[in-house]
Amino acid sequence: MTSLLHDRLAPRIVEEDGAFRSKMLAIAADLPRVIALGRGDPDFHTPGHIAEAAKAAIDDNQHHYTGPTGLPALRQAIAANLRGEYGLDYDANEIIVTAGVQESIMLCMLGLISEGDEVLITSPRFTTYDTAVHLCGGVPIPVPTFERDDFALDVAEIEARITPKTKMFVLVSPNNPTGAVTPPDVIRQIAALAEKHDILIIADEIYAKLIYPPHEHLSFATLPGMKARTITLNGFSKTYAMTGWRVGYMAAPRDFVDKLTEPRHTLSINTCTVSQHAALAALTGPQDDMQMMYDAYAERRAWLMEALSAAGLSYGAPGGAFYIYTNISSTGMTAPEFCEGLLRETGVMVFPGTMFGDDSADYIRISYLQPLPLIKEAMGLIQGFIDSRKDAA
Ligand SMILES: Cc1ncc(COP(=O)(O)O)c(C=O)c1O
Repeated sequence: MTSLLHDRLAPRIVEEDGAFRSKMLAIAADLPRVIALGRGDPDFHTPGHIAEAAKAAIDDNQHHYTGPTGLPALRQAIAANLRGEYGLDYDANEIIVTAGVQESIMLCMLGLISEGDEVLITSPRFTTYDTAVHLCGGVPIPVPTFERDDFALDVAEIEARITPKTKMFVLVSPNNPTGAVTPPDVIRQIAALAEKHDILIIADEIYAKLIYPPHEHLSFATLPGMKARTITLNGFSKTYAMTGWRVGYMAAPRDFVDKLTEPRHTLSINTCTVSQHAALAALTGPQDDMQMMYDAYAERRAWLMEALSAAGLSYGAPGGAFYIYTNISSTGMTAPEFCEGLLRETGVMVFPGTMFGDDSADYIRISYLQPLPLIKEAMGLIQGFIDSRKDAA
């Protein structure tokens, strides 16, 4: 029997796909040892000088509210970083600091989506976008990408889905779960499309510092005329191993940011003050730890790509982020069956593509967020698991 509150849920609360994640986490909780290659949470700890800045902020009584858009010094540092790293032209007053990019996503949709608006999203995808669009009465429209193209976006696939109701396109590059990087020439084609059909762009660049040569990042809002129709999202979780601190931001033209300041205040008033001081230290302090983490990811990625190929598993070669989207259809199992069986029998946790809006059930996402020796051990266990199923067949 369902509760009264459950029965009175608003229609905007639709069934989302959190159930499988919860099931996997519950199975893992009962296992003596798990090699977690599931969540997108770096194994590295936040670099020491960042944590020290947070401790200093507490000692200095920096535990009051800040303005809703964030600490002025942090907004300035973000604007300087966007300019220096990506050539993006934002002033400090065009930044809103939020509780992770996650809160920025919700804020964007609250600000822009009306009932029935269609939102095109690079897919397979980070399904927070679906939930945020649903909550605001919009309709998410996946734009598929394919293994044969290493999951690169094809502009024709975007254009084929544009209707009079299309409000925006969400460009996530590098993408989660595929790691696909949209090349600069395709970014330019998307800009032409946005102009032609008068659609807005959310450029989610949270993985932009994690790109492996020869792949290149081009920030969408640097293109002529594009800043006016773009919201750029970025944050600290991935680059600085700061997932739990909850700091991200959106950057957009000033008058739009001004209009979103009150809704942002309504959501959570401000991002945790101590975390904002940590984020400031991340941007202004030494970057050696970030380089060390990047180098480790690059090494793991190269090893894993080779190991997967040797195991006869195909994948889309990832240009960025820290995921490999791997095809397990040759095992005869669906991705959820594969992930649940693998976890129960070996303690290795990976997530099925079905958790990322992929209807095919042919893919798993491997996050290479463990030290290389553990990744090697996990790969041996994956191979053993596949072999055991073959023997049983
Ligand atoms: C594409 C993408 N955007 C946004 C987020 C949210 O990140 P956070 O809220 O930790 O900044 C994630 C997290 O996995 C992501 O993969």
